[in-house]
Amino acid sequence: MNNSVKRAHNFNAGPAALPLAVLEKAQAELLDFNDTGMSIMEHSHRGNAYEIVHNRAIELLKELLSIPEGYEVLFLQGGASLQFSMVPMNFLPADKKAGYVMTGVWSEKAYAEAEKLGEVFVAATAKEGNYCQIPALKEINYDADTAYLHITSNNTIYGTQWHAFPNTDGVSLIADMSSDILSCPIDVSKFALIYAGAQKNIGPSGVTVVIIRRDFLEQARKKGPTMLQYATFAKHNSLYNTPPTFGIYMMKLVLEWMKGEGGLPGIYKRNQEKAALIYDIIDASNGFYKGHAQQSARSLMNVTFRLADENLEKKFLEQAKQAGFVGLNGHRLVGGCRASIYNAVPYESCQALRDYMLAFQKENS
Ligand SMILES: Cc1ncc(COP(=O)(O)O)c(C=O)c1O
Repeated sequence: MNNSVKRAHNFNAGPAALPLAVLEKAQAELLDFNDTGMSIMEHSHRGNAYEIVHNRAIELLKELLSIPEGYEVLFLQGGASLQFSMVPMNFLPADKKAGYVMTGVWSEKAYAEAEKLGEVFVAATAKEGNYCQIPALKEINYDADTAYLHITSNNTIYGTQWHAFPNTDGVSLIADMSSDILSCPIDVSKFALIYAGAQKNIGPSGVTVVIIRRDFLEQARKKGPTMLQYATFAKHNSLYNTPPTFGIYMMKLVLEWMKGEGGLPGIYKRNQEKAALIYDIIDASNGFYKGHAQQSARSLMNVTFRLADENLEKKFLEQAKQAGFVGLNGHRLVGGCRASIYNAVPYESCQALRDYMLAFQKENS
C-alpha cells in the first residue's frame, strides 16, 4: 500500500470510495496492461486481452454472490435509471399489472417510469413516517397474476434497508440493489432479476449489472428496440455493442479485492462493524444525534441522521469538511447528514467519523 498518498475520508453516496489497492493496481497497469504495450482502455472489446477481463468479471460475480445455475450476468449502460424503464418494457404485458413496494425516492422513480409503460400498483408503502422503515413482509399485497413485484433493497437517501426478502410464491421478484449489492450474502434464487448501477459498491459509474433468471428472460417481450431488450445482452455475452470496457475492468479489480477480503461473509462482517461504530454513537448521544431510520430497518450502507436544528447541522457539516470528511451532507431532498459507508470505505474512516461525532457533541452540548 502506498502510504504517502493522502486519502480523504470519503462518505460520498455514489460515485463513492474505491479500494486504494484497486486504484493502485489500475494505476500500475494503466499504460501497459499485461505486457501488451497498451492500456486496457485502448484494447478492442473483441480482442483476447479484454475478453479475459470481461469473462473474469462475470465469473467473479457468480462466485461471490453464489449465483445459481440458470442465471445470466449482464453488463449494460444507462445506469439503474434506465432499468426503471427496461424492466416494464420487457416484463409488463398489457394484460397484467406490476406491483411496486415504495420505500423511498428511487422506488417512486421506478414506479413513475413503469406507469408510463403499463399498469402498476403500490403493493406496500413506507411513505408515512417519511420512509423511515421497510413495510412488514406480510403487509405486501399482490396476487398470483401480478407481472412482477419490484423492491428497492437499500434506500440510499433515507438510509433504510431490507433485512429479509419476501417469498413471492411464483410471482417474479425484481430488486434494485444499486446501493447494497455485494455488501452481504443474499439468496439470489429468490429473485427473477436484480439490477445495480456500479458506482457504489462495484466500481466506477458507467456499468449496470443485471442478474436475470433464464426462464424469466424467456418471458420478455420480443418487440422493442434491440438495445432495450435483455435478450440482446444475454445472447451476445454483453458484447453486442461496445461495452464500457474500462468500467468492467475496474469492476473486475474490485471483485478480486472483495475475494481477498473474505468474500461476502468477510465484507458483511466488516460492514456490520463499521455501521455499529456510527449507530452506537447516535444511540448513546441522548438525542443529540437523531437517526432517521427505525432501528429494525437501518441500512449498513447509508447512515442518515439529524442534529437538533439546521444551524447545528450546518456547523457540524462545515467543521467536518474542514477536518477532511467528504460527502456527509444528506441528500438534497431530505437534508440532514448521511454517511455512506460502502464496502470500500475503510474501517479507519468510520472510526475517524465516530471520533469527530463524539468531539462535536462534547463541544456543543
Ligand atoms: C437505489 C438507487 N437506485 C437507482 C439509482 C439511480 O442510479 P443511476 O444514477 O445509476 O441511474 C440510485 C442512485 O443513487 C440509487 O441509489
